[in-house]
Amino acid sequence: MKKALITGITGQDGSYLAELLLEKGYQVFGLVRRKSSADYGNAEHLVGKVKFIYGDMTDSISLINAMKISQADEVYNLAAQSFVGTSWEQPLATADIDAIGVTNLLEAIRIIKPSARFYQASTSEMFGLVQEIPQRETTPFYPRSPYGVAKLYGHWITKNYRESYDMHASSGILFNHESERRGIEFVTRKITNSVAKISLGLQEKLELGNMDAKRDWGHAKDYVNAMWLMLQQEKADDYVVATGETHTVREFVELAFAEVGIEIEWQGKEENEIGINKLNGKTVVCINPDFYRPAEVELLLGSPEKAEKHLGWVRQVSFNELIKLMVKNDLELIRKRS
Ligand code: NAP
Ligand code: GDD
Repeated sequence: MKKALITGITGQDGSYLAELLLEKGYQVFGLVRRKSSADYGNAEHLVGKVKFIYGDMTDSISLINAMKISQADEVYNLAAQSFVGTSWEQPLATADIDAIGVTNLLEAIRIIKPSARFYQASTSEMFGLVQEIPQRETTPFYPRSPYGVAKLYGHWITKNYRESYDMHASSGILFNHESERRGIEFVTRKITNSVAKISLGLQEKLELGNMDAKRDWGHAKDYVNAMWLMLQQEKADDYVVATGETHTVREFVELAFAEVGIEIEWQGKEENEIGINKLNGKTVVCINPDFYRPAEVELLLGSPEKAEKHLGWVRQVSFNELIKLMVKNDLELIRKRS
């Protein structure tokens, strides 16, 4: 039985990856942070199936301990302060967790079990002010947030440990991926949750920042499969995982509202732009500049060519299906609660 250690198991990707590895017959260990009340987040349903180990990316002793307990053959480093907006408010914590934390974990592996295979959750945020369209493994990086900068360190230290110590360490440069389990502060889930509430008469308006931002959005379930595939290769390497399509936040809003039968008409420009429900003339979307970022990533569009060719990675969920699933899920959750 293969053993895997997942950091960030309570998050969106960690919970899907744990399910995938359990299905494949792995023994799964998950690193969790101690909280004042027991809370396994998205991994709540995995209690009893996964062995949880307390630890923190900023505490190298706890990572050595997690490696000792798990003796993992595969280590997936998904833990991060993952919200770009917060990285301006907590730049040092973001760097400690997302940058130095990666070295802490690589060192724990090197000390306890250097033969273990390692996956690093790199990100399209590293491309930031994009130098090429579409972005590929060879595109130069230009991060635009403390998060992107910290992740770039994590990316390079992974490559460096591969080259310095011959470790099987790979980075997945994943573009945005969402799901029914996405954190509520990320724009897609914020939209689908608000759309569900507005359609049920529980909320008046959805307030957003930059609706012109373009993202390459896929479903998290497809993306965790790419992570696993990377660690099954004979040689470690870096791969872009993306859909090859890009859409604006505005398009996401329109399609999400369409799921509940609301057609949006846009009026005004920039900070005065509003989205009106065509059926009753009510304003359901408006701009709140508080959600603008000090530096923005305007366009992300990835090329999945290498992942498709070398890993045989295939995406199952389309952009429209993703929105459908997320709106449906939020409607069900809200109906259950009220
Ligand atoms: P997420 O839902 O925010 O999950 C983050 C996880 O990291 C949570 O389990 C969180 O635990 C844990 N964590 C945070 N700080 C930690 C610390 N100091 N020590 C140990 N664990 C810590 O993120 P996600 O969307 O699943 O993303 C997974 C990874 O992929 C992240 O590294 C993210 O940066 C990266 N990524 C995500 C995307 C995307 O579009 N989703 C794209 C590219 C890369 P708590 O529950 O205790 O907070
Ligand atoms: N969160 C949020 N809230 N974003 C908004 C809003 C809003 O009200 N209004 C507009 N946006 C815009 C942001 O300015 C950004 O351009 C875009 O929507 C997407 O924002 P997020 O959903 O917060 O995601 P992200 O692209 O910044 O970061 C996510 O993807 C990265 C991969 O590219 C996160 O999952 C990162 O962890 C990940 O690395």
